[in-house]
This record gives sequence, structure tokens and C-alpha cells, in this order.
Amino acid sequence: MNSGLENKLEMALADLPRVPLGWLNTPLEPLPRFSATLGGPPIWIKRDDLTGLAFGGNKTRMLEYSLAEGVKRGADTVISGAAVQSNYCRQLAAACAKLGLELHLLLRTEREIDKTAITGNNLIQRLLGARVTVLPDNDRDKQQAAIAAKAEELRAAGRNVYVPRQADTVDLDVIAYVQTALEVVRQCREQEIVPRQMYVCAADTTQAGLVLGLKAVGSPLQVRGINPSFKDGNEEHMAQMANQAAERLNLVECASARKRREEDVAFLTAADFHNDDSFVGERYCVPTPEGLSALRLLAQQEGILTDPVYTSKALAALMAHIRSGALPAHEPVIFVHTGGAPALFGYTDDIVASLQ
Ligand SMILES: Cc1ncc(COP(=O)(O)O)c(C=O)c1O
Repeated sequence: MNSGLENKLEMALADLPRVPLGWLNTPLEPLPRFSATLGGPPIWIKRDDLTGLAFGGNKTRMLEYSLAEGVKRGADTVISGAAVQSNYCRQLAAACAKLGLELHLLLRTEREIDKTAITGNNLIQRLLGARVTVLPDNDRDKQQAAIAAKAEELRAAGRNVYVPRQADTVDLDVIAYVQTALEVVRQCREQEIVPRQMYVCAADTTQAGLVLGLKAVGSPLQVRGINPSFKDGNEEHMAQMANQAAERLNLVECASARKRREEDVAFLTAADFHNDDSFVGERYCVPTPEGLSALRLLAQQEGILTDPVYTSKALAALMAHIRSGALPAHEPVIFVHTGGAPALFGYTDDIVASLQ
């Protein structure tokens, strides 16, 4: 571990524009009862479900950087879209309320019930003042086209529109998790633990940032990303986003200035990413029996709530790996809790059925 590298990274992060939205740093806590029940290694949980901003989650950290860019560009209006029960959209709605930005959300229906039910995140984002349109199709291309058309329409009406998470800004979301990696490395040192594995529910920016941050400070911690949906070239995409973030933070120059003079060197490649989609179950947004069982166990042993779509599936992966003996029994392991519990209310039928 190299605190010179940590200080350099901290300074690079401090140079970027950021709007304060979250309650940071989040705790890194032991899970003694949960760990004992599993009979495996001591599990520590990074509480990014406690980042603040209307029930917290990983996106609060990202919005600090990505909305700072919107504010810098003079935006008065934000447009975005994801699934109806998206945690990102709920946290974005809270951030826009706090910053006085008008928010338009164009949402996909992943399930039949999403077409009509106003509950969970879809209730909260409306309460926070977002103007919500539920699109008729579950089609990502049509959704992107609808977002572009809405942006055009509002710009023509004189609004200054910012659409976050575009190709030129997505690395700002990645950078938020570079920051988290640095936070975790320092917290492990304070707690005097030396974990080698970090489990996290991750589809793109979260894992890209964690892997980049750990590499930037020379940490041997390995990130085990558990994908909430079936991946398609995910590691390539993560490496590309992480390299874009590394450029913005000037890490590429620091790490390989000499090599770069000779050839074009990427800071990270797809081989640096381990992302597993074998715990998705039927598909994205459909809970699994293993996930719901993990959700109940953590809730009933530690009083901590996960969610049915993201974090419970990652927790199920961690439990499966402990039970199969894949993780050494005495080496601490970290579980990054990325939030999402408000979606519990969007899945009450599945959850009630799992309690029978
Ligand atoms: C609770 C939760 N965990 C994890 C993720 C995955 O984050 P990312 O897409 O940055 O990997 C999401 C994404 O929306 C989420 O809502």
C-alpha cells in the first residue's frame, strides 16, 4: 500500500468540480451475526446505502460529479431515463430538487406492473418533483431516441438542457467510485483488516471506478462484480470508461509516461475486470429465490435491507461462494452495499410470496 499514490489520487479528485449532495464517508462495518450464520470469512459491509439523498445508494456519489458538470454548463433542466423502478432516477430527482433543476424522466417498463403501479422509486421520484413519462415499450433504443427528442424540444423552447451519463461525461460517474475505492482502502487500514475480495453489484460505472481506484493506489484488493443483468461485452466497456476516467484524472501520464512515449498504453484492459452474470436468474428486474433468501437473512441477522433487483443478487453470489468454499475462511471479505431498498415496495408480491 502506497500512501504517496493515495495522496496524489486525492489531489487529482479534489481538482474536479463537485456539488455536495451526499453524507460521506459512509461506514465500513463488520457483519458478525451474518458472517457467523454462514460459517465463513468475516464479512464487512461498505454502507453506500447510507449516502443520503432520498434513501441513498451508489448514484448519490456519482451525481456529485456529474451534476457539477451540468451546473458548470449553466443547465436549468435535466433529462434522463432508465427503468420505472430505477434507483438512479430516484436519486437524480432528489439531487435536482436540491439544486433547483427541472427534471424530466422517460422511463421503460421492465414488467407489466410497471405500466400502472405508482410505488417504490416511481412514487418517490414523483414526490421529489420529477416530470415522469412512462414509455409504452421496454426498448432501450426507442428510449434513447425519446430522450434526444425531448432534449431537442426543450432546447427549442429556450431551456438549457443537460443529459447526464453521455459518452463525454460518463467517466464522471466512474470517478465517484474511484473516490470510494480510496475511502475503502483507508478504512481497511484504520480497521486493521486485509481483505482480498470485494463483492459489489455492478453493471458498469461502479465497477469501473472501484477497479481504477484500487489500481491507482496499488491495492491488491480484487473486485468481484455481480451483474444484475446479462452482460454483453461488459468488461470491454468498463475498461474503456475507466481509461477515460484515468485520462481525466491524469493517471495515465503518472503511471506510464515512459511507456506512452513508445506506444499507446491503456491504464486498464478488459482482463482487469471480473464481472459475473450467473446470478441474474430469469432476467434483469426479476427477483431470484436465492436473492430473496439472502435479502431476508441479512435483514434478520443484521437489520440491514438490500433490494430485490441489485444488491440481494450480489449478496446471493457472496453466500454461494462462501458455501462452496471458494473464499478462505479467515480472510475478511467486503460487500459494497450500493443501495436500492426503496424498490422493495415495487416488488411486494414477490417478497410476500417469499415469506410464506
Ligand atoms: C442498487 C444498485 N446497485 C448497483 C447498481 C449498478 O450500478 P452501475 O450501473 O454503476 O454498475 C445500480 C444501478 O442502477 C443500483 O441501483
